[in-house]
Amino acid sequence: MDAIDVIRAKRDGLELTPAQIDWAIDAYTRGAIAEEQMSALAMAILLNGMNRAEVARWTDAMIRSGERMGWSALDRPTADKHSTGGVGDKITLPLAPLVAACGAAVPQLSGRGLGHTGGTLDKLESIPGWRAALSNAEMLDVLASTGAVICAAGSGLAPADRKLYALRDVTGTVESIPLIASSIMSKKIAEGTGALVLDVKVGSGAFMKTVGNARELAETMVGIGRDNGLNTVALLTAMDRPLGNAVGNALEVTESVEVLAGGGPADIVELTVALAREMLDAAGIAGKDPAEALRDGSAMDVWRRMISAQGGDPDAELPVAAETHTVTAPAGGVLTSLDAFGVGVAAWRLGAGRARKEDPVSAGAGIMCHAKPGDRVTAGQPLLTLHADDAARFERALEALDGAIGVEEDGRPDLLPLVI
Ligand code: URA
Repeated sequence: MDAIDVIRAKRDGLELTPAQIDWAIDAYTRGAIAEEQMSALAMAILLNGMNRAEVARWTDAMIRSGERMGWSALDRPTADKHSTGGVGDKITLPLAPLVAACGAAVPQLSGRGLGHTGGTLDKLESIPGWRAALSNAEMLDVLASTGAVICAAGSGLAPADRKLYALRDVTGTVESIPLIASSIMSKKIAEGTGALVLDVKVGSGAFMKTVGNARELAETMVGIGRDNGLNTVALLTAMDRPLGNAVGNALEVTESVEVLAGGGPADIVELTVALAREMLDAAGIAGKDPAEALRDGSAMDVWRRMISAQGGDPDAELPVAAETHTVTAPAGGVLTSLDAFGVGVAAWRLGAGRARKEDPVSAGAGIMCHAKPGDRVTAGQPLLTLHADDAARFERALEALDGAIGVEEDGRPDLLPLVI
């Protein structure tokens, strides 16, 4: 087989054969296809697409490039959640211990943030001592003893995707539904979860800007999951404004702990409970209601044990940024928009996110939102507090917020429903 023949076939709009797909993924993982050749193939796929059979085979080849994990040693069913990423999306933090408190085991492999969306591991790493890197044996230990584990994927899991995702990131080939769907699902299927709930975000702060595109991505992923015997469901949820009030690593941990303590912003509570119900249902568990497990402290108990089991101190003070800057309402009226993308880019520029994958993130940087779209505000009222380690970062963050905030005297926000 020859890389140029495979590239030409997809360039000319042909269906790739199973043998071509198996060979391309295996040869790329071994280094026998050059980066520039895989980059050309990824671009041909982005432009010409892949049909259901091709996507299924591509996913399967990526799963076979590495190990498959299994959780049969556990005495309860497993369920996991994957979000396609958004601004202020800290849902995994309260959700994993909540679902564990209701009877499922949650093996949650998570990632770091790149660009304007945050990463779950970056958030948890703001807790002093907490460790993201666990061996498979440690992962099983934490899962068996606490019911939930959130950690980084090891290098043995879908190595083809690890290499290909890094290449796509620098070649303008991320935004392809078949490539995104196969990338996410290869990792989740290799992880060995028994049930999977996908939170597919829609809006300015998400990969998918329209409900139509998000639905296509969700249907492709659900199809891959079900073809592989994985009970998979998807919710489409709003990402046209930030989720909750906190955007930034330590700020989001604090907000998550508020939710686990039975408080927190209403949208975070609503989405966490909705996803927990879907996960328990997909895992076949009919037990305690998640809303009750937030109220009675049982989800908080799992959180504390899960953080401690990974070296973290659940009672530690979290890092705080040295500098703050307040953004006030330009006029009185109704807050009609607080654009997720603008807020996400501003938080990223404050230091909460990274531009290259080797960059560090600031634990304390980010944004606290003091009003939500639909709220009535008065001129000069604080709307946002920006947090940064260095005041020099405020100027570019404020540029990102230009046009992100709308206040109209008798306006009404045009928002997506939280769960679409
Ligand atoms: N997340 C992934 O894991 N892969 C993609 O391709 C996009 C988002």
